[in-house]
Amino acid sequence: MIVEVGLLGCGTVGSGVVELMNRRQGKIADMTGLRPAIKKILVRQVDKPRPVELAPGLVTNQPAEVLEDPSIRIVIETIGGIEPARTYILQAIASGKHVVTANKDLIAVHGAEILDAAERHGVDVFYEAAVGGAIPLIRPLTEQMTANEISDLLGIINGTTNYILTQMTETGADFADALAEAQRLGYAEADPSSDVDGLDAARKLAILASIAFHARVTLDDVQVAGIRSISAQDVRFAEELGCVVKLLATGSDRAGVLSLHVRPALVSKQHPLAHVSGPFNALFVRGDAAGDLMFFGRGAGSLPTASSVVGDVIEVLRVIRLGVSGRVSRMYLPGKRVSPLHAAPARHYLRLTAADKPGVFAAIASIFGVHNVSMETVLQKRAKGNTADIVIVTHATEPGPLANVVEGLRALPQVEAVHNVMPVVEAPE
Ligand SMILES: NC(=O)c1ccc[n+]([C@@H]2O[C@H](COP(=O)([O-])OP(=O)(O)OC[C@H]3O[C@@H](n4cnc5c(N)ncnc54)[C@H](OP(=O)(O)O)[C@@H]3O)[C@@H](O)[C@H]2O)c1
Repeated sequence: MIVEVGLLGCGTVGSGVVELMNRRQGKIADMTGLRPAIKKILVRQVDKPRPVELAPGLVTNQPAEVLEDPSIRIVIETIGGIEPARTYILQAIASGKHVVTANKDLIAVHGAEILDAAERHGVDVFYEAAVGGAIPLIRPLTEQMTANEISDLLGIINGTTNYILTQMTETGADFADALAEAQRLGYAEADPSSDVDGLDAARKLAILASIAFHARVTLDDVQVAGIRSISAQDVRFAEELGCVVKLLATGSDRAGVLSLHVRPALVSKQHPLAHVSGPFNALFVRGDAAGDLMFFGRGAGSLPTASSVVGDVIEVLRVIRLGVSGRVSRMYLPGKRVSPLHAAPARHYLRLTAADKPGVFAAIASIFGVHNVSMETVLQKRAKGNTADIVIVTHATEPGPLANVVEGLRALPQVEAVHNVMPVVEAPE
């Protein structure tokens, strides 16, 4: 039996979906007993050349030709952004169509509204491609791992920043040069802010944390810092300390209190995440029964992302076939709350520039002493003129005392600047 599919958008992801659906049609029919067929594709510009061959009449710029066609049972959304994607998806759901989307911006901000609507109308909404491109993350967390209490998520879930930081590590380049190279190669957009300021990773973390911790997490719950302040010096000091700098998305659940951050961190070279380089993505998950798991793969690209989208379409077909559509409900547990100050104690890296003269280090050390934060390692390098670059790695410390130390250091007249404060992530035991 043929199941008609409507596709919204035919750009990087949409064209990959067309190619993969064509390639796998026979296999999908063998596996599910249902043969998906793309009936209409909505785009902005009908006459724009596409990387895939499309039958005449397949492409339209009229949303109604997809959304109001009762024969279309599945809508795949690959337009991106909030509007009109949100309106189209809600309209499709209200008409009883199942939805597959790759849209992290939309799910991170309006996920609850969309999933509530799907529950009311008895249809499915799947969004595996919204986080981690080709890497299966949503379904393993939603299904296979639910027997666990998940305590920690650590992810490299933005390929652009990972490419930039990998370039800085491998070539010694500064941030601006590595960004320019990423833009030249198409790994970074002309306006890179959503990636380099950490927002893209924060949206993905909000989606992952909602599922892993069974909590209603939104973008506003995530503390976000990007990588613009990371310098070639930080990368070199990290190397001396046996670490690499990565933009990490971290979530922890300690007795129902969630702490959610996207920020640069020093990752020990003994940690498997340290070896996730270039445009690759990875998610490290700690469950009380499963122990440590790591998911790794391509976080973007036409066919890698289509792999997740078409996988979701096959899942929709399976549930249609089994007659169990719309029964995947979310499991939010009561009593979970978010508090950034509840992060587990961690070693921290601080880099500062201070006057290079006697007595300065004693003044710095006294600030640490007053707030009861102990130093583990100190590295000092002559900077320019009469100043020195000082790196201090603390013993494991709580966020509160650490913030007091940073405030105290900034108030010292001998300290010119506190440049970066980053947690140090140890290798798993
Ligand atoms: N690119 C990746 O590797 C990747 C990875 C994971 C997730 N995603 C997500 O996948 C989604 C699509 O990304 P993409 O890279 O494929 O984007 P894209 O290349 O810019 O393609 C967007 C498509 O949507 C169409 N479109 C845009 N606005 C429209 C409107 N108002 N009405 C009708 N059609 C419209 C465009 O039509 P025209 O072609 O006529 O302009 C284009 O075909 C986004 O949510 C993105 O976050 C992308």
